[in-house]
Amino acid sequence: MKTCIKNISTIVGILPQGVLRKQGAEMNETGTLDDAYLLIEDGRIAAFGKREDMPADADRYIDAEGGMLLPSFCDSHTHIVYAGNRSGEFLDKINGLSYEEIAHRGGGILNSADLLHSTSDDELYRQSMERVREMTDKGTGAIEIKSGYGLRTEDELKMLRVIRRIRENTPALVKATFLGAHAIGRDYRHEEYVQLVCNEMIPAVAQEGLADFVDVFCDEGFFTVEDTDRILTAGTKYGLRAKIHANELAVSGGVQVGVKHHALSVDHLEKTTDAEIACLKGTDTMPTMLPGSSFFLGLPYGRAKEFINAGLGVALASDYNPGSSPNGDMRFVWAMGCIRMRLTPVQALNAVTINAAYAMGASDEVGSITVGKRANLIITRPLPSLTMIPYQYQTPWIKLHLLSGQPC
Ligand code: NIG
Ligand code: FE
Repeated sequence: MKTCIKNISTIVGILPQGVLRKQGAEMNETGTLDDAYLLIEDGRIAAFGKREDMPADADRYIDAEGGMLLPSFCDSHTHIVYAGNRSGEFLDKINGLSYEEIAHRGGGILNSADLLHSTSDDELYRQSMERVREMTDKGTGAIEIKSGYGLRTEDELKMLRVIRRIRENTPALVKATFLGAHAIGRDYRHEEYVQLVCNEMIPAVAQEGLADFVDVFCDEGFFTVEDTDRILTAGTKYGLRAKIHANELAVSGGVQVGVKHHALSVDHLEKTTDAEIACLKGTDTMPTMLPGSSFFLGLPYGRAKEFINAGLGVALASDYNPGSSPNGDMRFVWAMGCIRMRLTPVQALNAVTINAAYAMGASDEVGSITVGKRANLIITRPLPSLTMIPYQYQTPWIKLHLLSGQPC
């Protein structure tokens, strides 16, 4: 089956095969082609080129009517498998409590763990799948999903099995991350829980092949650098590559321990010193910032521009979760990257596509317009320029979203 998209004003996000991420000055560029067509075959990008070279033998034509064509967003950091919501804590926050104060009172992540424990697998799947559809409707084509609201072996496995079921039922690409070390479960003392994560949870997760990555919330009041070192050592032994939550609440040492374990990404980074920037240089680790949680919690925005000026790449993701970022809209993330972090529209586009794909180990498959990659594509309404997208950030500019070549 050959589908041809015709009348494209500009294809944006073109990359040659084999480029898996962008760093430093590469972030300032995106490959473009004006007056173009794009051919999809068996759900993948088969070719693209100038209008005059468009093949005449496609089975189906989609008319872009002068809109642009972009790669779908990749969201490399989410917690969308959760039960219910935490709108009560939202009111506490409005009344002046901080994220840490809510957590200290036994709320926050532990509140979500209680809700998850009393929710059936089917209901958890139903609620989570609604969030997946909400995200694909808004242009996201690849989603990393973390566990971490189980905090007991059985409940962590329950979450990861729901993620597997999502993966089997959505046209989006899904990666799973084991985040047992998200908070100390209510039933355990600190050391006892770290041992449970290392000696029971990780082997059980690996035995069922439920996760691609292992993550730790390495931050003040949660897990120490030493805990993180032990958990990543255990995870790596079972073939799970590290991804880290670090430097959200304090300069935690999480970046350094992540880099020591060749983490694929270190995420949050609201609080970062020059030492973290220096430590990331020359590594395979993608710094990932989450402007949605900075916005929602009133935290500083990451120093993305300084990272780029130091020659590093940056990815941006939504952190969609019930406590610090109840929003999975990557159009908003792109806009916040520009409005609050002062990235250019092109830098932020690279951060929400190719670099986010890299941060979830999927940039050989999605994140750019490249022959052979999945045809995860956004067709826009006609726009005078790419800048219009993050500028007029509430305008519904997506006309059609294709996942593996099919409208979703
Ligand atoms: O990435 N920081 C830790 N974890 C999540 C929040 C989880 C929650 O509050 O439910 C985050 O912001
Ligand atoms: Fe998170």
